[in-house]
Amino acid sequence: MQTLVIDHPLVTHKLTALRDTRSETAIFRRLTEELVTLLAYEATREIRVQPITVQTPLGAATGVKLGSPPPLIVPVLRAGIGMLDGMIRLLPMADVGFVGLVRDEESLVASTYADRLPADLTGREAFVLDPMLATGGTLQTVIAMLAERGVTSVTAVTLLAAPEGLKRLEGAFPGPAQAARPVVRVVTAAVDDRLDERGYIYPGLGDAGDRLFGKV
Ligand code: URA
Repeated sequence: MQTLVIDHPLVTHKLTALRDTRSETAIFRRLTEELVTLLAYEATREIRVQPITVQTPLGAATGVKLGSPPPLIVPVLRAGIGMLDGMIRLLPMADVGFVGLVRDEESLVASTYADRLPADLTGREAFVLDPMLATGGTLQTVIAMLAERGVTSVTAVTLLAAPEGLKRLEGAFPGPAQAARPVVRVVTAAVDDRLDERGYIYPGLGDAGDRLFGKV
C-alpha cells in the first residue's frame, strides 16, 4: 500500500479551518468540497490515460484522454457523500457506486447495510471517499469488496487518517503499490496523533457525518 500525505499550504489551511469548532455546517460542507478537489488532483496522478491527437488551429497536437472504462467513485455512506461533489468536479465522467457501513460504537466493528456496486469491476479504477480513516475497519471492508469484484486499483481519499488505521490497512494490503493487485493507495490531508478511547481521531475534527449533515 502507498500512503500519500498531501503537504500543501492550501490543503493545510483548509483542513485547519475544517477542524475549527467554529466552522458551522455551511462552511464545513464548502471546505470539505474544496479540500476533496485538491486531494483529487493528487489522487488521480496515476489514473489511466490513452494517447490521442487533436487538431489545433495551427496543426496536430498529441495529448491524452482519460482511459476507458471510466473510473468508479465510491462514497461510503453517510459522511462520504459530503465528498462526492468535490471529486466529481475533476472526474465528471465517472460512474458512482455506493456502500453503506455503520460501526458499532462499542466494538468499533463496521458492518455493511448497503451495497450498490456493479457486480463486475474487472479492470476498473476505484476512488473510495471516506473522510475519516480511524480504525481502518470500514476501508478494509470496502477495499476487499472492490477487490473481490476485480478492480485493478483502489485509491482511498480521506481528509484525516490515524496511524492505527493506516497500520491496519498496510497489514491487510501489503507490498509495493505497483506489484500488488489491486494497487491500494491512501491519499489524505494529514495523519493525526492517535485514536481516542471512543475510536475517534485525536485531535481530528470530531464526527464528520454530524458536522456535514447534523445529528440525525
Ligand atoms: N468517524 C468520525 O467521524 N470521526 C472520527 O474521528 C472517527 C470516525
